[in-house]
Amino acid sequence: AIKTVTARRILDSRGNPTVEVDVVLTDGSLGRAAVPSGASTGTREAVELRDGDPARWHGKGVDRAVAHVNGEIAAAVRGRDAADQAGLDAALVALDGTTTKSRLGANSVLGVSLATAKAAAAARRQPLYRYLGGDGAHLLPLPMTNIVNGGAHADNPLDFQEFMIVPVGADTFAEAVRMGSEVFHTLRRDLLAAGHSTGVGDEGGFAPALRTAEEALDFVMAAVERSGYRPGADIGLVMDPASSEFFRDGVYDYAGEGVRRAPAQHADYLEGLIDAYPVLSIEDPMAEDDLDGWRDLTARVGDRCQLTGDDVFCTNEALVREGIRTGVGNSVLVKVNQIGTLTEVLATVGAAHEAGWTVVMSHRSGETEDTTIADLAVATGCGQIKTGSLSRSDRTAKYNQLLRIEEELGERARFAGRSALLRA
Ligand code: PGA
Ligand code: ZN
Repeated sequence: AIKTVTARRILDSRGNPTVEVDVVLTDGSLGRAAVPSGASTGTREAVELRDGDPARWHGKGVDRAVAHVNGEIAAAVRGRDAADQAGLDAALVALDGTTTKSRLGANSVLGVSLATAKAAAAARRQPLYRYLGGDGAHLLPLPMTNIVNGGAHADNPLDFQEFMIVPVGADTFAEAVRMGSEVFHTLRRDLLAAGHSTGVGDEGGFAPALRTAEEALDFVMAAVERSGYRPGADIGLVMDPASSEFFRDGVYDYAGEGVRRAPAQHADYLEGLIDAYPVLSIEDPMAEDDLDGWRDLTARVGDRCQLTGDDVFCTNEALVREGIRTGVGNSVLVKVNQIGTLTEVLATVGAAHEAGWTVVMSHRSGETEDTTIADLAVATGCGQIKTGSLSRSDRTAKYNQLLRIEEELGERARFAGRSALLRA
């Protein structure tokens, strides 16, 4: 049973405060979880409670969230069976009492939910992926490795937020990491030789002062080839334009490029990129408020490209079911803090899988050394993870955890590879 629940304020990878929770059981087992934070957030995400006092932490303090955990939440969950995750999460949702977790904060609730799961796994002397996924949990995810940052994650003119590579030709997760690292370092050298900055953005990818998606994709393609890999066959490309960020008054406003595109033109542009480059997956190709655009693009290219909804679904089971019903994309990005409890995360994954959709487990742009999402990717067998570049410890921590899991599974480990991607 749960004995103590303790929250504290720690720092995330951007140097902002975030919530960390320790759950200790009566047998002494400890579970610890830290909560991530987004920059390009969907409007229907569960609410991250910030103090809003401009004199402290630029308004980003989490003292109220920490106090909620140490006070009200700790009192409510003390004595509960840590192995009853669904019961615990339902109690947390009921205690909060809002549909968006705005009273207690999704950051307080998520910390307690995840830390309890980790404590329960520790009590059973099981790694988290096995505790949650059972003995059948042995699929290592295909990593979408971030390599160029733009949008809200960097100070460069690039309108699109993320350019990633997927090592679809790798046989193991360890090999995928090696391939990604080689391309990352080749790209660094190429950018340097072309006179570009090799400073990195929030997710550890380079943030050169490029203007167009084509320029970024050309650099990445060249780095893939110069590393000895075949674009498409060995390594595919993935983009997250994070289109909600530059959709204004019904128009996609490419400020860096200095061009405005109506939804149909924006879709034409994306289709052109899919035709010209081995782009296997696009996340948030259309804005969360442009559902007509989403449906149009899905009808046009959904049979040859994975279209993953992030802002449009916010890891919310009801929104995902609505998207499945109405033909909005064919894949779901899952960010644990967008919804706030582990049980709700698993329900969203289940709804997507039931419909034959794919799921990409994901970090946030503000992360910590917490590696829970690595275990969740294996536990759910979702086959894909997006956890940043192969630099910065907040990102590499997740890759390193997956390397450990692959080693621990030994002969039983399977690598998702190309088959994890929808229709690639
Ligand atoms: P965020 O970015 O964590 O800043 O929302 C990640 C993403 O858009 O996928
Ligand atoms: Zn996104």
